[in-house]
Amino acid sequence: MIGEAAKAQGAIVEEVEIDTSAEGYAIYQENGCINCHGENLAGGAAAPSLVANELSPEEIADIAVNGKAPGMPAGLFKGTDEELEKLSTFISEMSKK
Ligand code: HEC
Repeated sequence: MIGEAAKAQGAIVEEVEIDTSAEGYAIYQENGCINCHGENLAGGAAAPSLVANELSPEEIADIAVNGKAPGMPAGLFKGTDEELEKLSTFISEMSKK
């Protein structure tokens, strides 16, 4: 259980059911977003939660490519345009729950 593990680490801020079988989640892992934003997108010491905002897919895609100063560097996303769209749509959908 992802939720239990995160709770044990004291990292979880809010409970969101993340669809880890989604294609968007695989892209999230492949591009290293998971390293800072965590396995349940809830953030942690290195980065804020991705499920506690109302960002549009366009805004998320822009941040994935261009970063967000001062904390997040540009150029993290290395995939195709199609993957970028899937990733940002996925994150956006998770944050609406
Ligand atoms: C090196 C750690 C790191 C990695 C890797 C990383 N981020 Fe971030 N991200 C941050 C930090 C830190 C912030 C907060 C930026 C600030 O406001 O200073 C942030 C902010 C964001 C935000 C804005 C959140 C908000 O509430 O405004 C989004 C969206 C985001 N990241 C998406 C992604 C995506 C998508 C990826 C993978 C392509 C990713 N991040 C990879 C550290 C990271």
